Amino acid sequence: AACWPLAPHDLQGLTVLLTAGPTREALDPVRFISNRSTGRMGFAVAAAAAQAGARVVLVSGPVHLPTPPGVERVNVESAVEMYEAVMQRVQHSQIFIATAAVADYRAAAASGQKIKKTRDTLILELVRNPDILAEVAALRSSRPFTVGFAAETHDVLHYAEDKRRRKNLDLIAANQVGVAGSGFESEQNALHVLWEGGEKVLALADKTVLGRQLVALIAERYRQWSGAR
Ligand code: C5P
Repeated sequence: AACWPLAPHDLQGLTVLLTAGPTREALDPVRFISNRSTGRMGFAVAAAAAQAGARVVLVSGPVHLPTPPGVERVNVESAVEMYEAVMQRVQHSQIFIATAAVADYRAAAASGQKIKKTRDTLILELVRNPDILAEVAALRSSRPFTVGFAAETHDVLHYAEDKRRRKNLDLIAANQVGVAGSGFESEQNALHVLWEGGEKVLALADKTVLGRQLVALIAERYRQWSGAR
């Protein structure tokens, strides 16, 4: 296959910071809003980055996955916690990869006590969460090489290219969700990777294989980017 072999020194001397998994937005002490992300794609990318010789810091939402060998894991729950954990560590990172499925909204005010079912209707007020990826990409000093993911159900490439430009990303990996056998809650995935002036299709494969291919591509693009500055 036309993919790069991942050399164990491809990312030697670099720190890679990643987010993975879902976030949980509390409604009250026992309930939350979340999503179907398993964290598998992000954990596979983290494992591959460690195999490529990087120091890897993985900020993870609640998932049922073991920490890959050689990876430093920071556990968080909410989007705001994930944002703070990333911002504390980003200035020491040369590459940032956002694979987390961050909740777009959180409760305007989480209840301190369990919400009772006293009424027939209940209106929840939600407020926007910080866009962690966009905030990192907008950093004015020590901005890392910044990689995002785009999970879309339709018009994948159109939305991914739009997202890449809007969020000022160096590279975006797009995948179609809602298709059987790939994306969320699946062992496999297929990615269409876009950057300024180039693209590459990574065909349907196990997420571990795809993680290695993506890291090899990121290493190559990172070298171009850092050499050009
Ligand atoms: O805009 P959208 O949520 O589709 O963008 C997806 C990309 O942005 C993913 O890389 C995801 O990890 C990242 N993201 C983020 N913080 C958010 C929302 C998305 O880092 N609040």
